[in-house]
Amino acid sequence: MKDLIKKVTEAFGPSGAEDSVREVIRKEVEPYVDEISVDALGNLIALKKGKGGKKVLLDAHMDEIGLMVTHIDDKGFVRFGNIGGVVPIVALGQRVYFENGTMGVIGSERLDDPKDLKLEKLFIDIGAKNKEEAAKKVNVGDSCAFFQPFADLGDRVVAKAMDARVACAVIIEVLRRLENSPHDVYAVFAAQEEVGLRGARAAAYGITPDVGIAFDVTRTGDTPKARPMEVSLGGGAAIKVKDSSVITHPGLRNYMVKIAKEKGIKYQMEVLEAGGTDTSAIQLTKAGIPAGCISIPCRYIHSPCEMVDMEDVEACVLLAKALCESPLEF
Ligand code: ZN
Ligand code: CO
Repeated sequence: MKDLIKKVTEAFGPSGAEDSVREVIRKEVEPYVDEISVDALGNLIALKKGKGGKKVLLDAHMDEIGLMVTHIDDKGFVRFGNIGGVVPIVALGQRVYFENGTMGVIGSERLDDPKDLKLEKLFIDIGAKNKEEAAKKVNVGDSCAFFQPFADLGDRVVAKAMDARVACAVIIEVLRRLENSPHDVYAVFAAQEEVGLRGARAAAYGITPDVGIAFDVTRTGDTPKARPMEVSLGGGAAIKVKDSSVITHPGLRNYMVKIAKEKGIKYQMEVLEAGGTDTSAIQLTKAGIPAGCISIPCRYIHSPCEMVDMEDVEACVLLAKALCESPLEF
């Protein structure tokens, strides 16, 4: 499982540029599914057929936050806009890489007050001497991602893009282990979540499932002087009640709790005060879909060093598998 998480997190794939990560995931998923396709938004959709049960959608987004080149100045410094929720104080001093392998570091203009640190003050230095040299390596509209290798800390692991590639890994593992699901399980590795839940919206419409379950990371309240939140690393699979985009289907949510209790799977309830998930895009499809969400607790979300606990990851796999094998009557 750690190898799988390393492989998917280290793949390149800011929103709208998911080709590389999609191919990495496709290779992992292909042996375990009956059909696989890519839609117009770039979502990877895999179907594992059941025995005439329900249509179940498992969704995790494969895109990651990143930066997009807006302008290259005469000295060859690359100015950029954000792709998703990039925080200036986190971005400063980081390395980034482009799909063609170009590396850069994020520097800042002179700041009289640290409060002036805004994305507009930052630039990417790709080591070019002037605009001409820079333009040979990157173009306006190219996107880049944080560069950080995966690190194994033992029970816990750190990588860029855990949001939401660790959730992609959970779904891949469920597909691998799932043998006797009565249901048609559609796994959606969604594009463009970080810019507004776009991929999942189209995918859910195309599939129109009977039940939708999204998987993503959620923040924790267990670091020094953190904003209070009940979710903690190592506390188990987080069953979402609410985030800023969704209130999950109460019947499905209670059913998840029931299954977790029956199977002895460690879980915790999640109320996320800021941040949305694909869950809402699925829920609001057509006339409405019963939708829930299983979150993997994660520290330092939207930084290049996002940390998860392997026991939580395993709990999420077990809960998802148990749900797929259950009647899903709620
Ligand atoms: Zn996410
Ligand atoms: Co995110």
